[in-house]
Amino acid sequence: MKWTRRELLRAGLALPIAAASCIRPRPEARLIPSLAPLPPRFQAALPILRAAQPVSAENGMDRYEFDVHPAAARILPGLSTEIWGFNGTFPGPMIEARRGRCVSVRVRNRLPVPIVTHLHGGRTPPESDGYPTDFILPVSGFPAAHMHDPLARVAQGEREYVYANQQRAAMLWYHDHRMDYTAPQVWRGLAGLYILRDPEEDRLPLPHGEREIPLMICDRSFNADGSLRYPARDPSLRELPAIEEAYMGGVLGDVILVNGAPWPKLEVANVKYRLRILNASNARRYELALDPLPRGAVAFTQIGSDGGLLSAPVELGTVRIAPAERFDLIIDFSKFSVGSSVKLINSADSGSAGEILRFDITRGERDDSAIPLKLADAPDIRPENAVLTRDFDFSFDRLKHSWRINGKPFDPARMDARPRLDSTEIWRFQTDFSHPLHLHLVNFRVLAHGGRPGPYDSGWKDTIDLGPGQGASVLMRFSGYRGRYVFHCHNLEHEDMSMMANFEVV
Ligand code: C2O
Ligand code: CU
Ligand code: CU
Repeated sequence: MKWTRRELLRAGLALPIAAASCIRPRPEARLIPSLAPLPPRFQAALPILRAAQPVSAENGMDRYEFDVHPAAARILPGLSTEIWGFNGTFPGPMIEARRGRCVSVRVRNRLPVPIVTHLHGGRTPPESDGYPTDFILPVSGFPAAHMHDPLARVAQGEREYVYANQQRAAMLWYHDHRMDYTAPQVWRGLAGLYILRDPEEDRLPLPHGEREIPLMICDRSFNADGSLRYPARDPSLRELPAIEEAYMGGVLGDVILVNGAPWPKLEVANVKYRLRILNASNARRYELALDPLPRGAVAFTQIGSDGGLLSAPVELGTVRIAPAERFDLIIDFSKFSVGSSVKLINSADSGSAGEILRFDITRGERDDSAIPLKLADAPDIRPENAVLTRDFDFSFDRLKHSWRINGKPFDPARMDARPRLDSTEIWRFQTDFSHPLHLHLVNFRVLAHGGRPGPYDSGWKDTIDLGPGQGASVLMRFSGYRGRYVFHCHNLEHEDMSMMANFEVV
């Protein structure tokens, strides 16, 4: 946190010390209810995301240009919602990239606030990774007093990000990463999908084309006039990064959006579909399940995780997905009869947030897809090659009412770990409350997660969800680039309230 008590007082946000200390901090995520009537479920058609067209594709480089600006979206029936969007859309344009072929994205900031764009899951050189103080200032200018990091690479108006795509096929996503303001800015719409493909995956007989469907799931709440509701104390997001005290554990919405539409429906054939699911929520976890599930049937076959294909498919009855995690799932609709419907539900909640999407099985078709028993090569990384073990504790500071890593708030000026390029390390995490922990640059293998690795820890991960009081250890190799990166809790409110730290690959 970069604002002082005096700044708070000036803005009238500080409480007298005595009053502050008798407020019970609420470290649990909390629902902010919509004031607009919730729309009926399963009316809207699921928006199908299609790959954006590059503005040029020469010399081995696909170039995109994103203008980031406010726009009016139709999300709730009869109401208009102002979003902040890449090219004015939410979700932002979906990029489809090929392994080994560069992508450049020129981002132009037409918002009234600084932004930073990070490609989550990308093995990206530091200057394109979207470090939280590497601002793109508004085209219209911004007071310089708000910058505190001497190492920051601040851009005026626009910046070009270059992604090398030297990594496995996977579904990544890009989102805003402005220090102290990521949560409200993602809430307003600054997020999009990025699908990276490679020949190894193309060769597999998995469902594809119309039967491969990326799904960005997130929760939001709305004011009576249709605008997005969020408990920021400074809704301009220009002066102070404060959130109402009651929401410091995270903000939950009561409307579930899939690809930007509330509780949509999708017509499918009675065949296998590949659903590539991202939880883009600020703080909400989902327990994905199918309802109804035919007797004896298994709901999902997981084929991939954050970092791409698993070595072999895994059958799962339910899937727990935390903020920023991705699950690549096959649903076989041949288990359902034509004319029936099945809902993708969230069994972790009841009421409006307990439902997500409805599939209507409207037709019979031939299925020539298959799920091979071997999907990809098994990862070549071993714990015995680790040269170092580091420990990180993620916890709530009751005195400061803020979130900490090893007792310290995020500080761009402090280096918390210096792994060597191409070295393998084990990082051990310990938590107080639930925290979905994420590292930039690297993918890791889960070695332990409250004991042995859990059912959702298969494959290469970049985010691991720890339960309250849990420990985990992960194994990774710091390859790719030297430079400064962050790791943090991906509960975006926790992240904004300091639960972030630095590592530098040296
Ligand atoms: Cu999804 Cu540091 O980010
Ligand atoms: Cu990331
Ligand atoms: Cu957290």
